[in-house]
Amino acid sequence: MPEQPYVLLTGDPAEARLEIVDSVHGPHTQAFLTKAGLLPGMNVAELGCGVGLVTERIARTVGKPGHVIALDASHKQTVAAARRLKTRCVTNVEFVTADAGATGLDEDSFDFVYCRFLLMHMHQPEVALAEMLRILKPCGILAVEDGDFSSPFCWPASRDFNRAFELYVTAGESCGADFLIGQRLFQLVANMGLQHISIETVQPVCVDAEECSLVSSTLNECRDTLLKHNLATRKEIDETIVNVNRAAMSGLTVFGMARMTQVSGRKPQKEG
Ligand SMILES: C[S@@+](CC[C@H](N)C(=O)[O-])C[C@H]1O[C@@H](n2cnc3c(N)ncnc32)[C@H](O)[C@@H]1O
Repeated sequence: MPEQPYVLLTGDPAEARLEIVDSVHGPHTQAFLTKAGLLPGMNVAELGCGVGLVTERIARTVGKPGHVIALDASHKQTVAAARRLKTRCVTNVEFVTADAGATGLDEDSFDFVYCRFLLMHMHQPEVALAEMLRILKPCGILAVEDGDFSSPFCWPASRDFNRAFELYVTAGESCGADFLIGQRLFQLVANMGLQHISIETVQPVCVDAEECSLVSSTLNECRDTLLKHNLATRKEIDETIVNVNRAAMSGLTVFGMARMTQVSGRKPQKEG
């Protein structure tokens, strides 16, 4: 893992939560990938691939003539991702364990470079974006999406739901992460000198109990960070989780999840 602490779990214990993340955000991600220009036959790099949920979507889209390099700083994640894709008979993916800021991948070598929920975890997202641009071919497509965790809402309103997200954002801050990064993603990408930049936002809304459980499971994964930095007591975390779960299971409470900012653009042609 990079020197910067990571707030959430990795490897096998991370898998169930990331599956729910993809159930909530996956359809919007799929639409974004298509709109950004992902096509069969492309050579793709995905940074911060986690346990490989978006990786599988990308690999199936580019198909056999295409190829995917899926990279994560956590070896546990790349091992879990490789196992998942093997069991699902996806064979056009290669996994790399490396930091997104120093991938070791060749310059100008990918048609499409992508990440989801990666930049929000980084002290210096600009460094990862510069690396993504370096490995893109001229005219290649950069597509990044990330959240704004000040945007979730709950109806009927719930203090515990709001507190869960406050604690999550605070846990991120204590590790140098920025869980509001969605607000400034366009500017981060524009500052890299990309062309034809587009921005959209999407906010998934859930009523299904399993999807709504994402709120409490994410808070639970932040537990160690919150306790270590004295940002909450064990009792407060436990009570918040119980109360959020009660709302999640009602089947009538609406959970508006993190609004995602999706930004894509093209690397300029080389001059001369
Ligand atoms: C919240 S998970 C998202 C996983 C996946 N992109 C998804 O949306 O399902 C964030 C991932 O970024 C990885 N990560 C965090 N910091 C990283 C870094 N500096 N370089 C590469 N990967 C990193 C973590 O190990 C984790 O797998």
